[in-house]
Amino acid sequence: MKQVYLDTFGCQMNVADTDRMELLLFHSGYRRTQEKEDADLILVNTCSIREKAEQKTFSLFGSLKPLKLANPDLILGLTGCLGQQDGKKLLQRMPYLDFVMGPDQVDGVAHAVDKVRSNGKSFVWTGFDQEKTYSIPEFSLPKAPGASTFVNIIKGCDKFCSFCVVPYTRGREKSREPDELYREIRHLVEYGAKEIILLGQNVNSYGKRGLKNPIPFHELLYGVAQIPGVERLRFTTSHPNDFTRETIRAYQDIDILMNHLHLPVQSGNNEVLKAMRRDHTIEEYRELLFELKSKVPDICISTDIIVGFPGETGEAFEDTLRIMEEIGYSSSFIFSYSPRPGTPANELNDSIAEEIKKRRLQEAIALQSRLTSEIGQHYIGNNTEVLIEGRSSKPGYTFKGRNPQYWGANVQAGEKTLKAGDTVKVRVQSVSGHSLSGKATL
Ligand code: SAH
Ligand code: SF4
Ligand code: F3S
Repeated sequence: MKQVYLDTFGCQMNVADTDRMELLLFHSGYRRTQEKEDADLILVNTCSIREKAEQKTFSLFGSLKPLKLANPDLILGLTGCLGQQDGKKLLQRMPYLDFVMGPDQVDGVAHAVDKVRSNGKSFVWTGFDQEKTYSIPEFSLPKAPGASTFVNIIKGCDKFCSFCVVPYTRGREKSREPDELYREIRHLVEYGAKEIILLGQNVNSYGKRGLKNPIPFHELLYGVAQIPGVERLRFTTSHPNDFTRETIRAYQDIDILMNHLHLPVQSGNNEVLKAMRRDHTIEEYRELLFELKSKVPDICISTDIIVGFPGETGEAFEDTLRIMEEIGYSSSFIFSYSPRPGTPANELNDSIAEEIKKRRLQEAIALQSRLTSEIGQHYIGNNTEVLIEGRSSKPGYTFKGRNPQYWGANVQAGEKTLKAGDTVKVRVQSVSGHSLSGKATL
C-alpha cells in the first residue's frame, strides 16, 4: 500500500474534507501516515480566512520542498480554500507543487492524483460544482467515527459579511437532503458515535437551497433527535439572523440537544456591525440571547469577535467589551482584523494601527479569561455529565471528554472503568481555562 500524509488548516469543514479525502484515497490504495518522510503523496488542506492562516501554509510548504526535490516521485498537492482563492498564483509561487484543488473538488481527489501519476504535469483544478443539490456519497462515510462526530448538513455561505472570504472560497449555500442525513447518522451511530454535531458555515440557514422538499433547520433538529442511539446533539456555526424562536423552542423540547450555542457577534457596536454587513443590530442580538437564556437557564454561549475592524473607534471597542460582559460568554474566539483580498472590507482603509489592534485583542482576551473563570467556578463541587472521547494528557487524569455546555473535562477514573462513548457523572474539583477537572462518580 502507498502512504499519504495529510495536514489540515482552518475550520471543522476542512477537517471533515480531509477525513473524506483520507477515505477516498484509502479506496485507491493509500494508507495515512503521520510521517511526512514516508509519504508517496502529501496533501495540505488549506485555509485563507486570515493572513496568518495563509502564512502557516506557506511555511509548511517551505519545509516540504526539500522532500520533493529529494524524491521527484513524491506527489505534492494543495487543496482547500487557499487553492480556490489563489489557484494559478500558487503554482507560480511554488513550482514544485503537482496540483492545486479547491474545496468543491474533494470528491475527485483520487482522480487528481491519478492524473499527475499518468502525465506528470502540474495543474490547477478549482471552481464550484454546478449541481443544484449537495450530496456526499455513502462510500465515503467513516467506519470508525469518534464518540463525538461532525455531520456536514450545508455547504457554502450566502451571507457575504464584508470581511470574509468564505462565500468566495466555498461558493453558494446548498443543503443536503434530510433523508441522506438521517441515513448517515444511523450509520455513524451503528459504528459507535454517540454525539452528533451538525456542521456548516451557517447551519441555521439549512433548507433554504438545494432541497426537493425544503424544511427549516429546527425541523431537522427534531428529526435527528428521533434517531435511536443519538445521545447528544449539537450544531455549529449559526448566524444571528437565521437563529429563530423555533430553535429556542427546540432547546426546551429536545432533551438531547445540549445546552450550548455558538452564536458569533463579531462586534458590539452598530456602526461596525453595519460596516461588517452583519445585517442586524446589537439590540436584536441581545434580545434574542436574553430570551434564550431566560428559557434555557443553564445554557452556555460562545462567540467569535473581530477587533480592529476599519473605523472601530475606542468607544466602539468598548461596546464589544460591554456585550461580552452582558451575555457572559463561556468562551470566545477573538481575532484581530485581517484584510482579505477580494472582500468588500478590503476596499476600506485598514485604519486601526497594529499596536492598537494588538492592545484591543489582549484586552478582549483578558476579559474573556475572567468571564470563563467566573462561569467555571459554578461547576466546582457539583456534578456534570461528561461524554468520554479519549485519553487525557493531563497528569493524574485518565480520560477526557466534554460536558453538555461544551466545557472540556479531564476525568479521574480507574483504567478499565470507562471507555470512549460512555457518559459519566463527574464531580468537578478544579477549573483551568475552559476546562474542568474532577473525579468520576461511578
Ligand atoms: N460562519 C461563521 C464564521 C466563519 S469564519 C459565522 O458567520 O459566524 C470564523 C471566524 O473568523 C468569524 O466568525 C470571524 O470572527 C473570523 N474572521 C473571518 N474573517 C476574518 C478576517 N478577515 N479577519 C479577522 N477575523 C476574521
Ligand atoms: Fe463568513 Fe459571514 Fe458567511 Fe460566516 S456568515 S462564513 S462570517 S460570510
Ligand atoms: Fe478557512 Fe475555508 Fe474554513 S477559509 S475557516 S477553511 S471555510
